[in-house]
Amino acid sequence: MCGIVGIVGHNPVAPLIVDALKRLEYRGYDSAGVATIEDGRLARRRAEGKLINLERKLAEEPLGGLIGIGHTRWATHGVPNEVNAHPHFSENVAIVHNGIIENFSELRAELVADGFVFASQTDTEVVAHLIARELMRGAAPKDAAFAALKRLQGAFALALLFRGDEDLIVGARNGPPLAIGHGEGEMYLGSDAIALAPFTEAITYLEDGDWTVVRRSGAEIFDMEGRTVQRQQQQSVGTSFLVDKGNHRHFMEKEIHEQPEVIAHTLAHYLDFTNGSVKPFETPFNFAEIDRLAISACGTAYLAGLIGKYWLERYARIPVDIDIASEFRYREMPLSNASAALFVSQSGETADTLASLRYCRAEGVPIASIVNVRDSTIARESDGIFPTLAGPEIGVASTKAFTCQLSIFASLAVRAGLERGTLTQDEARAMVRSLSEAPRYASQALRLEERIEKIARELSQVRHVLYLGRDTSYPLALEGALKLKEISYIHAEGYAAGELKHGPIALIDETMPVIVIAPHDRIFEKTVSNMQEVAARGGRIILITDEEGAAGAALDGAETIVMPTMPEFIAPIVYALPIQMLAYHTAVVMGTDVDQPRNLAKSVTVE
Ligand code: AGP
Repeated sequence: MCGIVGIVGHNPVAPLIVDALKRLEYRGYDSAGVATIEDGRLARRRAEGKLINLERKLAEEPLGGLIGIGHTRWATHGVPNEVNAHPHFSENVAIVHNGIIENFSELRAELVADGFVFASQTDTEVVAHLIARELMRGAAPKDAAFAALKRLQGAFALALLFRGDEDLIVGARNGPPLAIGHGEGEMYLGSDAIALAPFTEAITYLEDGDWTVVRRSGAEIFDMEGRTVQRQQQQSVGTSFLVDKGNHRHFMEKEIHEQPEVIAHTLAHYLDFTNGSVKPFETPFNFAEIDRLAISACGTAYLAGLIGKYWLERYARIPVDIDIASEFRYREMPLSNASAALFVSQSGETADTLASLRYCRAEGVPIASIVNVRDSTIARESDGIFPTLAGPEIGVASTKAFTCQLSIFASLAVRAGLERGTLTQDEARAMVRSLSEAPRYASQALRLEERIEKIARELSQVRHVLYLGRDTSYPLALEGALKLKEISYIHAEGYAAGELKHGPIALIDETMPVIVIAPHDRIFEKTVSNMQEVAARGGRIILITDEEGAAGAALDGAETIVMPTMPEFIAPIVYALPIQMLAYHTAVVMGTDVDQPRNLAKSVTVE
């Protein structure tokens, strides 16, 4: 993920912007840059790599100006070099951006046809030229920005400078966070409160679809209809080490809502969206040379691995053995020299998972791990890591780490399929393109929250819940049950839908809600039969499906959460969001400690 900052005030801003960028270090960066208006002109300094390189450049070539914007980059489009570093310029406008402009290709073609010359490979530069074109057509800066924003599809948080107006920064948010900081005659924009903490703790978080005009005197906020909107100003405690909840009640709520952004950044780390290819990232073993992959993890991380098993076996034809780490570590699984091992852990400190890793180390097999904490023990003891770019996950119930783990498994399945010759280039390209749409579908899934909240109020009245799913929805059923029980304390079980008739159906009556996860995919009809078995016994069904599924199920009395229709391959990633929201809102109604549920810890570092 990237970090963006904007400052308009009465002091030289370049050093202040660099200070703020340092506090965005947890977001990582491939390059960094600052732009200001100096002597009436747009000026910038950019540097590849770590922030220290930008500081050195600014020391050699100081940048004046009392208004500016800054950026730390995590490359999604275009290699991480200086040319692709933000801020990007066009005629009279400068931009910094966090996110992915999904329709940048068509916009780029349109602008090239209009004579614009692109200096970079980034999607961001498209926005700068769009705005410049509006300025050339006579629009005022604010109107030019608004006109351009309405053309954009995808996730973005951005900040704009305009030559000729040294008291104006325009900001906009659709997905990745963006906050306004209120100072004394000085105003700020930043990716989060942490970045702005040195200047102010008076923060206003923008909502999705908001854009803002920031001047020294204050900020106005508008929606995408151009109407003025009010957003609550609050006191943040964004110290450099305390991740902020933003305008959310709980870290879990914030982390559920961060998923479109962090899924995008995780996918972009492994896939090249511009040409639909898999990036040549390092792996500690060659997928074409192994005859078996052992996967082990705990809890939600294990369930991500279970979905990964389906994908790796289906698309790369790799036999996968997966087991929860507390069993794996004592099973003494026989491993050959053509085996490899993969561990999944958000914290990278889970004792059982670490012990299983050490068992495999002793067996001499190559070891990879999917981790969210790069300098964790599991990461350090692996031969290679596949980092999730979820950012700090504070809520004990894992959410964004899970969907980022799935994003990596999906990317690995494509990579392995290509290396093993079980996927053609065209098949792989189509799968990468499907994955590039996952963030957008995740954003759309978040819009179902009000409907889900209503169902959660009903769920909070019961004591037992059953989750059902088939194929890759089966691990989601297990995950849904885990989420619900660990934060609402309601007993819940996940089951393979086809297993219902082998026992669990005895539980079904009108007191037992059955949550069925079933996108309209290749096995949907089989799951419909299971739902009819439940309905015939008075069971209450809550179906999570898509339009075609809702029409196909035709179950009187069933509550239905209708998801957007999407490629089957990416459904497990996106369908995780409604089950997370269902658990979250049920727990809120129950009044439990959502972020720190009883008896639990974020990382179980003991057996
Ligand atoms: C999931 O919501 C729980 N917090 C728990 O099951 C967790 O996934 C498990 O403890 C594994 O943690 P890790 O990913 O840090 O290894």
